[in-house]
Amino acid sequence: MALRKIVTSEDASLYKHCREVTKFDERLHTLLDDMRDTLESADGVGLAAPQVGVLRRAVIVLETNVPEGEHPYVIELINPEIVEKSGEQYGPEGCLSVPGRYGLVERPMEVTVRAQDRYGKRFEVKGEGLTARCFCHELDHLEGVVFTSIADRMLTNEELETGSWMDDEDTEDVAE
Ligand code: NI
Repeated sequence: MALRKIVTSEDASLYKHCREVTKFDERLHTLLDDMRDTLESADGVGLAAPQVGVLRRAVIVLETNVPEGEHPYVIELINPEIVEKSGEQYGPEGCLSVPGRYGLVERPMEVTVRAQDRYGKRFEVKGEGLTARCFCHELDHLEGVVFTSIADRMLTNEELETGSWMDDEDTEDVAE
């Protein structure tokens, strides 16, 4: 296992469509293990393969909605697709590839994703709140979409610190 370099918004890898994973082999497992280490080291909640320069449809998301006393755990999603979504949430979103910057993005409140695990086995997983936001954000990366291009607007540090962005008229449904 090793840390990989997270590319930032100048890197072309972030704006490309990623290809399907077809081999569930050692190389994929190493990539996922490295992504786990890299996410943990960066203290993030999600990471997509293109953020470490690999243009394949693989992401990891930290499930933080766990019962009290339990630890958050990483969900690995290979060739993921959203099959159901409901509700909405509006709030600040950030990205390890855009360090220190946050923008207001509307996302569904609940999202169900169908994906494969690292061995190719198909499964479905549901996420709510931050996890749903994270599923959407990471899946966008696989289409070459960075949140800055879909944010209503970016926030200033002051707005972030004071929470004054909540005064925006359409923020009834605030997440996080
Ligand atoms: Ni991101």
